[in-house]
Amino acid sequence: ISESEQSAIDAYEWAGRLFHHVLRYTEDGQEAYQYLNDRGFTDDDIEEFQIGYSPLKDQFLTSFLEQKGFDLQSLASIGLLSQRDGNIFNDRFKGRVIFPIRNHQGKIVGFGGRAVEEGVEPKYLNSPDSKLFQKGKLLYNFHAARKVAQKENEIILFEGYADVIKAHQAGVQHGVATLGTSLTESQAHLLKRYVSKVIICYDGDQAGREASKRAADMLQQVGLDVLIANTPYQMDPDDFIQSYGADKFQNQVLGTAETYVTFMLNHLKKDYNLHVQSDQFEYIEKALDLIATVDHAVERDVYLKQLVQDLGVQRDSLDEEIAERRRINERRDEQAKRARTESQRTQTRQ
Ligand code: GTP
Ligand code: MN
Ligand code: MN
Ligand code: MN
Ligand code: MN
Repeated sequence: ISESEQSAIDAYEWAGRLFHHVLRYTEDGQEAYQYLNDRGFTDDDIEEFQIGYSPLKDQFLTSFLEQKGFDLQSLASIGLLSQRDGNIFNDRFKGRVIFPIRNHQGKIVGFGGRAVEEGVEPKYLNSPDSKLFQKGKLLYNFHAARKVAQKENEIILFEGYADVIKAHQAGVQHGVATLGTSLTESQAHLLKRYVSKVIICYDGDQAGREASKRAADMLQQVGLDVLIANTPYQMDPDDFIQSYGADKFQNQVLGTAETYVTFMLNHLKKDYNLHVQSDQFEYIEKALDLIATVDHAVERDVYLKQLVQDLGVQRDSLDEEIAERRRINERRDEQAKRARTESQRTQTRQ
């Protein structure tokens, strides 16, 4: 790690401590503290996640870090300060609640800044990507969550910082979140190194459901088992815990998590009108494609029984269709494998 990267981390660490202090112990932090309180964030949460507040002053952090001898230009380049016409530097997160984002060593490398007033755009202002802070590679709370995750052999994946913190309050310590972007392949590989199962617990709106589908595909592709939790429609995990408490969250949301295939089948069903025959045929085709990818025969059996029940079709014909699809898939996999060994052989020869 270079000198400039270390200096950037130092600046973020200073800023994190300063903003946390403002929130906890100063007049300037009162409104934000009240806001967090009203949303159900406790003092314990504020401590554990070192939540802070950047006061409504143009150069509060700027002059603090200037006095510490930091080069303001480089602080602007890592998005801690903003810069306008030439050499005027200002606080970039002012008026926002600060969620420090840590790297895997536990050092602060970025902020998520939430507007306190409703309707302020953007709702969240995040640090921009830099060499130190890459949204596609980090996960919020991963540093703290990974020990418990490893022990439980599972991790819970959320959409937002608030969800992770509320879940922690509800006794779920192995929760992480993406940083305002879709889950990346690199994040999926990271999780694979620590656990074999991921429970996706995204928001219960249309966007959250579509994102669940994409995340599930990504996680399955790297060989992880995936379950999808049942966040009720129009709620997110943070709202749910706030309204119904820890037990209901554990039992009704996480505890009823469905397999990827069940989740997908339910969604597929909504895309078709099963009373129309052409729709029904298309639905069956897609459902069979999906079920054929399941390697456990017992699990396949459960889905096929459901299909028989939903559609009144013959089980025999479904079994035939599945067998055929699995033969085709197997052949395809073998061909891909052969192509890979072949290309490796050519490479070693060269
Ligand atoms: P709260 O409203 O504070 O409970 O946040 P939330 O996590 O429920 O927000 P939402 O579900 O809308 O978004 C999920 C995540 O996407 C957030 O935690 C942020 O990381 C990110 N996000 C949301 N809004 C914005 C935005 O306006 N800009 C950016 N860059 N990211 C956002
Ligand atoms: Mn403290
Ligand atoms: Mn959302
Ligand atoms: Mn949300
Ligand atoms: Mn929320």
